[in-house]
Amino acid sequence: MGGAAAADRRVSARLPEFTWDALESSRALAADHPDGLINLSMGTPVDPVPEPIRQALAGAADAPGYPLTAGSAGLRSAISAWVARTCGTGGDGYGVLPTIGSKELVGWLPTLLGIGPGDTVVVPRICYPTYADGARLAGAEVLRADSLTAVGPTPRVRLVWVNSPNNPTGQVLPPAHLRKVVDWARERGAVVASDECYLPLGWETTPTSILADEVSGGSYAGLLAVHSLSKRSNLAGYRAGFVAGDPELVAELLKIRKHAGMIVPTPVQAAMVAALADERHADEQRERYRARRETLRAALLAAGFGIEHSEAGLYLWATRDEDCWQTVEWFARRGVLVAPGVFYGPAGQRHVRVALTETDEHVAAVPARLAG
Ligand SMILES: Cc1ncc(COP(=O)(O)O)c(C=O)c1O
Repeated sequence: MGGAAAADRRVSARLPEFTWDALESSRALAADHPDGLINLSMGTPVDPVPEPIRQALAGAADAPGYPLTAGSAGLRSAISAWVARTCGTGGDGYGVLPTIGSKELVGWLPTLLGIGPGDTVVVPRICYPTYADGARLAGAEVLRADSLTAVGPTPRVRLVWVNSPNNPTGQVLPPAHLRKVVDWARERGAVVASDECYLPLGWETTPTSILADEVSGGSYAGLLAVHSLSKRSNLAGYRAGFVAGDPELVAELLKIRKHAGMIVPTPVQAAMVAALADERHADEQRERYRARRETLRAALLAAGFGIEHSEAGLYLWATRDEDCWQTVEWFARRGVLVAPGVFYGPAGQRHVRVALTETDEHVAAVPARLAG
């Protein structure tokens, strides 16, 4: 490719700078701390992959043939059973499909749904950046809105993303709110995609799935719930997620994904079966995060921070009512790296996101660092 015209045609030109690259100088500052870096920025799991899951992966290592894009029969039934147990679904008429982690689906869903120029994708005002990136990849418009009145008469809304518990704010949307979104979208023929990757991490509130009967009204039409094993089972490195919901939409996704080679590898499918069948390791992991959350929350409050929402999920949404980059620097001088709220939308400009994903040892060192 050469010249300005060719550069304009590049798909990457539709996308913003990759968020985490902007944090490099703060990381360098934090890493200079004499006692080393404590990384509360990215939210990447640090605890071991549970042993039964590793065994399942290793047991499926002899996998010379192609895997099923739809997932093995064992995986499909493990996903269905988990959804029935966890999402409050009365019926079993939903479709299920494994994904290569959930980010892949979030990034490509608008394209897979045939959304494009002239269409609008609604994303939360403060949210995980990939919802907007996926819309831009498809050439669609992005509208940031938390309320349907803010969406108003916007033409051609084809997809509405909700994320409860929210990354980064930890806000949980009550069932009545979700129900309104579902009704609104159904009236307009839009799809509701609900990113529920933090659903199992409710601290002060129990989050509700979009597939729960009280929200869906017992029909999955127009609804997709997006799930991930990255945080529940420490499987971010395996790339293991799935989508469940409207059987027609899921069948459509499957058709395209077969052509495009979006297939979860056989050993990872086997690992997912083991992970989904077991709640014990997920409970243990949740308790680790609960303890870390208590320590970090107390340390932030003692250091004079306000904490908003954060009733569920993997993050604390904190503010000292100053520009987020100033706060990031304040932390970095103490050897602690946090994420600036502006990564998640302009409305996050005065907050930082503090992840619960550090080792117990590092989390235990945070109160003294922040007090210093
Ligand atoms: C809200 C949200 N959705 C999706 C993802 C992607 O997770 P994964 O691709 O590991 O399943 C993340 C990762 O941090 C997230 O915060």
